[in-house]
Amino acid sequence: TSATALARAESLIRSIPDHPEPGILFRDITPLLADAEGLRVTTEALVEPFAGSFDVIAGIEARGFILAAAAAIVAGTGLVPIRKAGKLPQPAAAVDYALEYGTATIEMHDDLPAGSRILLIDDVLATGGTLAAGRRIVEQLGYTVAGVSVLFEIAGLGGRDFVGDVHTVFSS
Ligand code: PRP
Repeated sequence: TSATALARAESLIRSIPDHPEPGILFRDITPLLADAEGLRVTTEALVEPFAGSFDVIAGIEARGFILAAAAAIVAGTGLVPIRKAGKLPQPAAAVDYALEYGTATIEMHDDLPAGSRILLIDDVLATGGTLAAGRRIVEQLGYTVAGVSVLFEIAGLGGRDFVGDVHTVFSS
């Protein structure tokens, strides 16, 4: 992945003040997703460091699904959705967590082979609550977290320390 292409992709992430609540600077990745090269190079950058070390990719609802699905195609693996409570028909585990704005619960199925190594993907790392919960739910089901990979890190909120080892493509 070329540094120039990645820098161009980063410039497509837009910051929207006071969304969805006053005081929140929302990182809007939709212009990047709409750009063919931007989507390709960032997807490749999400999986490259973990090549060969995982069996499947899990994406966290909702924006994480987009990147995780693209990444699964690039990596040649399947995709597992980690969803907000009440959406999956047969959840095998649930984990509550605090969000930058509000609280939430995630759920996951347990249809993978025992010992599956999972690469966890999401779009944004803020406080780290979501990805830490993602890590916990994977481990609760007895699977292994092969890595955690995020498109954009909002630095200075302690998210990185909260989640543990995390690869970020861009950082504020
Ligand atoms: C956003 C984002 C991450 C999470 C990051 O998701 O997509 O999943 O917040 O914040 P954290 O590091 O403080 O946990 P959100 O819950 O807004 O859901 P969405 O993707 O469905 O919009």
